Amino acid sequence: MYYPEELIEEVRQRNDIVDVISGYVRLQKKGSNYMCCCPFHGEKTPSFSVNRARQIYKCFGCGEGGNVVTFVMKYENCSFPEALKILADRAGVELPQAEYSEEARRKESRRQKLLQINKEAATFYYYQLRTQKGERAKEYLDKRRLSEETRRKFGLGFAPVKGGELLSYLHQKGFNDELISAAGLAKIDEKRGTVTQFWNRVMFPIQDINGRVIGFGGRIMGDGDSGPKYLNSPETEIFDKSRNLYGMNYARSARTGNIILCEGYMDVISMHQAGFTQAAASLGTAFTPGQAGVIKKYTKDVLLAYDSDGAGVKAALRAIGILRAAGMSGKIINMSPYKDPDEFIKNLGQEAFQERIDNAENSFMFEIRMLERDFDMSDPEEKTSFHNQIARKLCEFSEDIERENYIEAVADKYHIGFENLRKLVVNMAAKSGGYAVPIERPRSGIQSRNKNTSEENSKKLQRLLLTWISEYPQLYPKIKSYITTEDFTQELYAKVAARMFDDIEKGCFNPAVIINMFDDENEQSEAASLFTTQLPELESEQEKEKAFKDILLKVKQNSFDYYSARSNVDIAALNKVIAGRKELEELSKTHISLK
Ligand code: UTP
Ligand code: MN
Repeated sequence: MYYPEELIEEVRQRNDIVDVISGYVRLQKKGSNYMCCCPFHGEKTPSFSVNRARQIYKCFGCGEGGNVVTFVMKYENCSFPEALKILADRAGVELPQAEYSEEARRKESRRQKLLQINKEAATFYYYQLRTQKGERAKEYLDKRRLSEETRRKFGLGFAPVKGGELLSYLHQKGFNDELISAAGLAKIDEKRGTVTQFWNRVMFPIQDINGRVIGFGGRIMGDGDSGPKYLNSPETEIFDKSRNLYGMNYARSARTGNIILCEGYMDVISMHQAGFTQAAASLGTAFTPGQAGVIKKYTKDVLLAYDSDGAGVKAALRAIGILRAAGMSGKIINMSPYKDPDEFIKNLGQEAFQERIDNAENSFMFEIRMLERDFDMSDPEEKTSFHNQIARKLCEFSEDIERENYIEAVADKYHIGFENLRKLVVNMAAKSGGYAVPIERPRSGIQSRNKNTSEENSKKLQRLLLTWISEYPQLYPKIKSYITTEDFTQELYAKVAARMFDDIEKGCFNPAVIINMFDDENEQSEAASLFTTQLPELESEQEKEKAFKDILLKVKQNSFDYYSARSNVDIAALNKVIAGRKELEELSKTHISLK
């Protein structure tokens, strides 16, 4: 849904950030800000600050920040249009209705029907568990020590032996066999007629992120029962297994700042019962990039609580790869000596599990440890190839500092000399074209530059420059003859710069307005980060002036390099280069005061 910028801006202006956030958390006035404990990560002393004048919020603990729309998106775990709707409703602003095509409307109405059938089926199963017929299922759940509250929370049920009962219940509710089969609850068989998917099983309704039932998992109750241990609904128009996770409808609002990912329905349920409400599981299939995307909307920190057997380790290694590709970080919870979280918690309890969470292993170190098991360390040749494999993996880190830290950690743990391992990584990078390692070890905290990171560096500098100008808008008139929006070679920053410079000139600069220019969530949070990044805490005015000028000069130099590289193909770039050289020279001689 597209809304015009003026409308978005009106909604924002009619929702004062302090008022809105006060509706969610208790704010306390401290100086010109309002403070509270951050709702987005666990903390005991308040570092979450809301600024009324600037209409933005920022947590100095976790770095989360943005404007009123960002806050609602984050807190309600919803999309930009949904947040806008909430705020529009709150302020009594009317949003235009979305227009659906005939086709889209038909599809939507069918989806609604399929959701209704699933909901009715869940109600039916839930009720059956509480009848005489469900006695065995009840005993089974007792044996697995699930409380009544847990059974209710997860809507557990029982599919009776006679499938016909579900069918007549659904017929009575007005659904025909075609819809029942499209919902994955039955198959239409030429010889046998309509046959239900589940019978004589304990039923686990699978809910989407909004708590709507989209499918089921059904478990046999004893070894003597026929069929696979768990049977699941097939994929349907409403059930996409690669984009849903069991328990995610609860886990998304756990506010623990992480998600525990596991393999089984029972694992999720056990963890929730023990208070770990951030647990979720993939749906009888391997973890997918689509599921990583779902989780990433809420957190980047994923703890893997996979089975401790060989298959579990393999699945964990795959999940780590998927998480890493999605830019998320994974840690591994050690379950030994038990098979899975359910058994662990039953045997050692909640506190012991919390301890395992606190001591979860970094995913890279886990990968190396698993790799080690394939080699015989008493054999010099195998040991060497183990070291080579480590070096190959270390090459994959693109950030110098990160890679250096891992080289150090691995060298330490596996008793390889730091310099030796480092040399191995450099050679490997040279051979395989991975990220090169600077020959000199960089002094701590100072990132050395090389080709692969120069673009990232340039991006960082552009971002920093915008942060400085937003903190000190009075600087803009002093530097405007040196810097233009074209110097921001990153498209998003160029857009922000154009609007920011314009607004400063007009005397109406406000970060919250700028964040609203973007309706893509990623762009929005990137724009928000411009205004919520903390500048280095420099003591004296002089130091600050120097730091600012350094950044300005570097941005200018990078822009100069950027256009130089294009100047033989692009005449506009050439002009920019000629002008840029002069500006650079002037700028380096000019003093820019912060006042
Ligand atoms: P597990 O075999 O690890 O079972 O399957 P579990 O979770 O420990 O189950 P309990 O404790 O014996 O009840 C993990 C997940 O794999 C899927 C299910 O989603 C299950 O939760 N699975 C397993 C199936 O889909 N079909 C099966 O036959 C077995
Ligand atoms: Mn289990």
